[in-house]
Amino acid sequence: MIPAAGGGTRMGLNKPKQYLPLRGRALLEWSVAPFLDLPWIDGVVLVLARNDTEFAKLPIARHPRILTAVGGAARAESVLSGLQRVAERSRAFREVHVLVHDAARPCVTYAEIERLQEEADDRHGGLLALPVTDTLKRGKQGRVAETVDRAFYWRAQTPQLFRLDLLMDALRECSSHGLEITDESGAMERAGYKPRLVRGLESNIKVTFPEDLRLAEFWLAQQELQP
Ligand code: C5P
Repeated sequence: MIPAAGGGTRMGLNKPKQYLPLRGRALLEWSVAPFLDLPWIDGVVLVLARNDTEFAKLPIARHPRILTAVGGAARAESVLSGLQRVAERSRAFREVHVLVHDAARPCVTYAEIERLQEEADDRHGGLLALPVTDTLKRGKQGRVAETVDRAFYWRAQTPQLFRLDLLMDALRECSSHGLEITDESGAMERAGYKPRLVRGLESNIKVTFPEDLRLAEFWLAQQELQP
């Protein structure tokens, strides 16, 4: 399930970032592609903004393995809307697992998705993440308040993999308490789960600012060169 209903305002461009051109395709098409090809993934739900006019123009718009849902004002709302769509489609199955991936991460590879599937915990789930390598400072009013032990810190990426029913409960619980979460793991943690940290790759960047597009281009070119 891929939330792609954001406006991408931090890019400062006239198009949402998921539709910006990247090596001959829209950024979103790169982010979706590996999930369409992996045989153990049943399908992809894409969450689009209500006023989206771009998706219908893409070649993947009529892909038989893609369903769409309408997103909300906040990312968590969009995710819940997408999960509802997944749930409608999988009512006949028990214990469905769902991968949630940001549309803004176009360089994710098959290998990372497969590793997550292998290493994530059945009940607690898991997420791709990278150990922090820089020295970490906690700041206060522009000055260092303390140096924190980086050995404990990871940068969370996507995809993240959870059991559908548990994730929906966890997200609804956060929403009912007005708690703002920035990833699905955050909701699961609040519900008492301990998602598995699965080592990701530095190349799985999140495109946030215009200069990130150049970096995404670089990583995609590198991946093309790999045997
Ligand atoms: O804004 P940010 O980069 O954190 O967004 C992460 C992902 O969540 C993007 O793929 C974006 O399209 C999606 N999103 C969404 N609905 C929102 C806000 C963000 O689907 N209301």
